[in-house]
This record gives sequence, C-alpha cells and structure tokens, in this order.
Amino acid sequence: MNKVDLSVQVGPLKFRNPILLASGTVGYGNEMSEFIDLNTIGGIVTKSLSLKPRKGNPPQRIVETPSGMLNAIGLANVGVEVFVKEKIPFLKKFDVPLICNIAASTIEEYVECTKILTAEDSITAFEINVSCPNVKEGGLQFGNSVSAVGKITEKVKAVTGKPVIIKLSPNVSYISEFAKAVKENGGDAVSAINTLVGTAFDIYSRRPKIHNVTAGLSGPAIKPVALAKVLEIRQKVDIPVIGIGGIMNWKDIIEFMIAGASAIQIGTLNFIDPAAATGMIKSLEEYCLKMRIEKISQVTGSYKI
Ligand SMILES: Cc1cc2nc3c(=O)[nH]c(=O)nc-3n(C[C@H](O)[C@H](O)[C@H](O)COP(=O)(O)O)c2cc1C
Repeated sequence: MNKVDLSVQVGPLKFRNPILLASGTVGYGNEMSEFIDLNTIGGIVTKSLSLKPRKGNPPQRIVETPSGMLNAIGLANVGVEVFVKEKIPFLKKFDVPLICNIAASTIEEYVECTKILTAEDSITAFEINVSCPNVKEGGLQFGNSVSAVGKITEKVKAVTGKPVIIKLSPNVSYISEFAKAVKENGGDAVSAINTLVGTAFDIYSRRPKIHNVTAGLSGPAIKPVALAKVLEIRQKVDIPVIGIGGIMNWKDIIEFMIAGASAIQIGTLNFIDPAAATGMIKSLEEYCLKMRIEKISQVTGSYKI
C-alpha cells in the first residue's frame, strides 16, 4: 500500500522523501552504500570539499559526550579535483540527488570550487558550509558575519545555475538574520544547523580531550536547539529550510517538519546505525496514513502555536 506521497520540494529541488544524509557523516557515499540502498533515500550530501586536499586536525578529533559527540575533524577531504576524478564515478551509479558541500577559507575559494564542480552533470546542487567551527580560517569567521554570508551566496550563485543551499551556524544570536541574507542574495534554501561549539577536559591531565581544544557538538543533545533555530527561520523568513541536528528516529523527522523543515538530514545517527533511514521511510508512511496525511510536505510548518 503506497498511498502516501513522501516526496518533498526544497525550492527548486525535488526529493523522493525528506531524508537526506548529512555532510561529514557519510564520506562520499561508498562505505555507506554497503549498509543502505542509496536509491531509496532523498539525497546525499558529501563531506565538505575544499579546493585543495586537506589533512584536517591531528587526533584526538572525536569524543563522546552525554547524548552526543564532539568532533574537530578540521575538514579533512580529498579536494575537488580528486573528488571529480575518483569519487563521482561511483556516485553516478545511483539514482540519488547528489549535493556537494563546499568549504573554503576565502570567498574566492568558494567561487572557484563551485565553478569546477558545476561542470559536473551528476551534481544536483550545492550546500555551502559557512559554519564549520573546527578550522582556523574561514568557517565560523564567515558564519558569524551576516554580510559575509550574503556575499558568499551572491558570488556562488553568480557562477552556477544549480540550486545553492547555505548551511548556517547555530553559534549566532539570530539565525534568521543569516537566512534573510541568503534569501536577499538569491540563495535557494538554508540548512540548519551545523554543530554547536563545545569542549571537554580530562580532569587528571587537565588537558582538553580534543587536540583542537574546541569542537562541534552534534547528536540528540542539540535537537532542541536545532528545532528552535528552524522555527525561528520559518517564522521570520520565507525560504525553504533543511532541518539538521540530533535526529535519531522518524518522530524527530516529523518534529522538524512541524517546526518548518521541508526536508531533514541525518548526521551522527549514521555512525550508530547507518541503515536507519530504511526503517524511517516506512514509519513516515505509516504515520501519514494514520494521521490521514496525503502528502508529507503538508506537515512542513504545521505547528500550532
Ligand atoms: C564527524 C562529523 C563530521 C562533520 N563534518 C562536516 C562537514 O565536513 N561539513 C559540514 O557542513 N558539516 C559537517 N558535520 C556536521 C553535520 O553535517 C551536522 O550538521 C551536525 O552533525 C548536526 O547533525 P546531527 O546532530 O544529526 O549529527 C559533521 C558532523 C560530524 C559528527
């Protein structure tokens, strides 16, 4: 019985269901494909790509926390050139929208990466990471400046005809100001949220548990924060939102959609149960049938306040 329409629209993008896999938690899809049929999910977002390959930060890069994890990977990635040559051929085998996440230290680097990647037919859209808390230059420096986020959106849009999603930082007072800048500069959607800045100490050595000292907090601990940020954007700015942060089960997906998300991304959960999305798709269908909802997209922004 397949009476429910699980497809969702995020600006110009159409996904078969609202479940996307979040940047940095599924690499370039190859390991993930051993656990889940990539043809069944809404979309896949690559690890952040930079112009040149990056080694990332020295270890220790990951620490478990109550209800979450801290990571300071530092954007380790193969770089756009190797991605195009070695990673895209594998991803092409699947019928799944491919969203390339881009990170950079300068506005010019964002533009250059987008220019190179936009030539690839198999790339559906871009997600621009202006919010990585774990790198020395770029990252939060951009994510904390409304004018920089506006400028990056404008410059990236100017060099690609593909949809551009800007991934926003939660480490700001009013995230809606940033979503507004994205909209005003032609961005197609925003993703909210990236990780929250956190740290942890070893009480015996008195040293930080993470080499980078601070790191990004993700997982169920951040879900209430992420929901509040999604709601704030929904209430203040007319732009599609992709909700991210601590999603652990199908109920969390519905909660994000009620708060205003058109689609969602699964992050930390991929490290615990990489096949989780499969069961969630079925549960979303059952929920809609039970609630007499014909199209899951009707749930988006359906909060009653
Ligand atoms: C180990 C790890 C690596 C990540 N790497 C990236 C990255 O390269 N680019 C990016 O935009 N977000 C990155 N993120 C952030 C996630 O995409 C997501 O926004 C965040 O983890 C919150 O979702 P979650 O609580 O479901 O994990 C990373 C997260 C984790 C846990």
